[in-house]
Amino acid sequence: MSQNHYAIEFRHVWHSYDEEPVLEDISFTVRYGEMKVVLGGSGSGKSTMLRLVLGLIKPDRGEILIDGEDITGMSEERLFAVRRKMGIVFQLGALFDSLSIRDNVGFRLIEEGWPEEKIDEEVRRQLAFTEFEEDIDAMPSELSGGMRRVVAIARAMVGDPRILLFDEPTAGLDPPSARNLCELAAKYRDIREGASIFVTHRMDDVRFLSSVLYLRDKDGRIIARHREESDDFALVNTRFIILRDHRIIFNGTVEQMQQSPDPYIQEFIGQAEVETEELIVEVG
Ligand SMILES: Nc1ncnc2c1ncn2[C@@H]1O[C@H](COP(=O)(O)OP(=O)(O)OP(=O)(O)O)[C@@H](O)[C@H]1O
Ligand SMILES: [Mg+2]
Repeated sequence: MSQNHYAIEFRHVWHSYDEEPVLEDISFTVRYGEMKVVLGGSGSGKSTMLRLVLGLIKPDRGEILIDGEDITGMSEERLFAVRRKMGIVFQLGALFDSLSIRDNVGFRLIEEGWPEEKIDEEVRRQLAFTEFEEDIDAMPSELSGGMRRVVAIARAMVGDPRILLFDEPTAGLDPPSARNLCELAAKYRDIREGASIFVTHRMDDVRFLSSVLYLRDKDGRIIARHREESDDFALVNTRFIILRDHRIIFNGTVEQMQQSPDPYIQEFIGQAEVETEELIVEVG
């Protein structure tokens, strides 16, 4: 889908909590069909960036545009309409424990007063996209940690938002579950041509997201295309941001990141590798 404005645009955004700076002079854009992977140490402001996108907090300085509209000084009422264009997978992907999978995924629609059969249809459509095959009347406690994150993604996708925010969706998962979540995020990027921000610490995620592209074959089936050495298709649809000391110190492709002479970036790539190993603890 070609549109002449960005899905997300930050223009010289500054943010602090109680005079303590967290983000300084942050500028970047995300197009439809593009994923921005955000890397940075704990406390570097990654979740703050997502809260700013949602308009849950306001920047001290600068502008934030969503789908071409400046949300910086927007009223709560208008922001509510803008937020309907976005879905978020929160850090730790928490589900409502007392609600079934159906009601978790359909939560937003229930709140909006949709008729029951429409909700059922939409919930099943999103769960089919995520290839969720368990009982939709099951409770979250009956699912594995990886499956609960899949449900959190289906919940964020309800109503087909054009923008999706993923806050460390793979943290703490075993490698196959983490891979599964990356596949869903990449399908959202390629098949639905959605705009997304994907926060992660894992170099496995970085490698996967920058090397696999999803397409429909002539029969309409979704197929994965793995990147060849000589290909450069992934250069355009996935880009990386590294945050450090409140600022963006890198914004570019995976190759540019790997080839960067910056010792912090090199150390970060190496360290993230180690952290990933330590982080692998199956949730639930
Ligand atoms: N509501 C708040 N009030 C005061 N300080 C806050 C608030 N939220 C976050 N902070 C601080 O702002 C900094 C950035 O927090 P943020 O949650 O954005 O980091 P993060 O990059 O998402 O970290 P993590 O990887 O641990 O999730 C941290 O130092 C944090 O302690
Ligand atoms: Mg965070």
